[in-house]
Amino acid sequence: FPDLHPNQSLLLQLLLPPPSVLSFLYCPSTLLTSRLYRSQTDTALMNTTSFPTCCNMFSFINRFTKVVPMFLDPNYKRFSKIGDYLPPFGIKSQGMITHSCLCSRRLYSSIHFECCKTCIIVGNGGILANKSLGQRIDQFDVVVRLNEAPVKGFEKDVGSKTTMRITYPEGAIQKIERYEAQSLFVLSAFKALDFNWLRHMVFNQRLVSTDGFWKSVARRVPREPSDMRILNPYFIQEASFKLIGLPYNNGQMGRGNIPTLGTVAITMALHNCDEVAVAGFGYNMSTPHAPLHYYEKIRMSAIKESWTHNISKEKEFLVKLVKAGVIQDWTNGICGAGC
Ligand SMILES: *[C@@H]1O[C@H](CO)[C@@H](O)[C@H](O)[C@H]1NC(C)=O
Ligand SMILES: *[C@@H]1O[C@H](CO)[C@@H](O)[C@H](O)[C@H]1NC(C)=O
Ligand SMILES: *[C@@H]1O[C@H](CO)[C@@H](O)[C@H](O)[C@H]1NC(C)=O
Ligand SMILES: *[C@@H]1O[C@H](CO)[C@@H](O)[C@H](O)[C@H]1NC(C)=O
Repeated sequence: FPDLHPNQSLLLQLLLPPPSVLSFLYCPSTLLTSRLYRSQTDTALMNTTSFPTCCNMFSFINRFTKVVPMFLDPNYKRFSKIGDYLPPFGIKSQGMITHSCLCSRRLYSSIHFECCKTCIIVGNGGILANKSLGQRIDQFDVVVRLNEAPVKGFEKDVGSKTTMRITYPEGAIQKIERYEAQSLFVLSAFKALDFNWLRHMVFNQRLVSTDGFWKSVARRVPREPSDMRILNPYFIQEASFKLIGLPYNNGQMGRGNIPTLGTVAITMALHNCDEVAVAGFGYNMSTPHAPLHYYEKIRMSAIKESWTHNISKEKEFLVKLVKAGVIQDWTNGICGAGC
């Protein structure tokens, strides 16, 4: 792959199937037809999703496989198999809700992205505290924050810019005044109920019951539909089954096969950004009294054994990405002393 960025070559080695599966791709005629194929489908896609066309990390792979738009759009059936999987791996059974949100409120339109972007995913780890990384974080083109992680009052350490905030209902900011003035509100749906919740938020309907959520949820999201999106569930599917290698479990949720939101966000960024950095990731269990999150007093020791996630397996994957230089870890919490 002579014209590849070194990171991309490494990424290929890391993430692609064994060479035998790939060997046909080296054949120049395949290359040619794939390119042609891409050029036709891409143009159509770009019109609906503003998908960046230039040098993102996966662009080489995408030439052979598929384009992975950041957000769901009305053409979702054309990619991945997200229509065949139940949440969180797809949107099976949620087609109507998704369609009504996407189409009548145009949830997919006017994405503020262009090509060749540097992105940083800001995790919520206590490791971010007192490192004064705020200014450096703000220099990224795209700053992704997760769930309710606050900015106000923590600017010195976490920066003040938020391009998008990816969240699930239980993690969404509940106090209206704590929402940033500008940022995309992006739902990452982990269960069927989450789509229903989003519909209420999009159409400004009163949420009658919060049964089925594992924690209290926001009852209002002070955002116009034009600033709301649904994260493409393909990233959850890919993170779980292909990248981390969690149990397939017949394509259904279970046996610890849900990736954490942070890793889902990283997967999205690997497809859509040219450079991916992270900060605030990783737990150091040998410091049980250190704060778990940068914004609250809960300590590391409060972390519970999870039945939904497989933290250790996920960490192996993140360590691989850091070691190979595919992502940069600014707070060094993923490898710690170990890379
Ligand atoms: C994309 O949009 C442009 C301008 O709106 C139009 O000229 C072009 O035909 C569209 N391409 C496709 C493939 O739909
Ligand atoms: C950060 O600094 C403040 C003030 O010096 C201190 O109270 C706090 O414990 C520090 N937090 C961490 C995680 O070191
Ligand atoms: C995590 O994955 C490892 C390796 O596949 C497995 O041994 C372990 O039981 C899993 N843990 C959980 C909590 O599912
Ligand atoms: C965890 O914290 C301890 C104590 O500060 C430190 O010695 C160790 O290197 C850290 N481990 C990792 C993986 O960061």
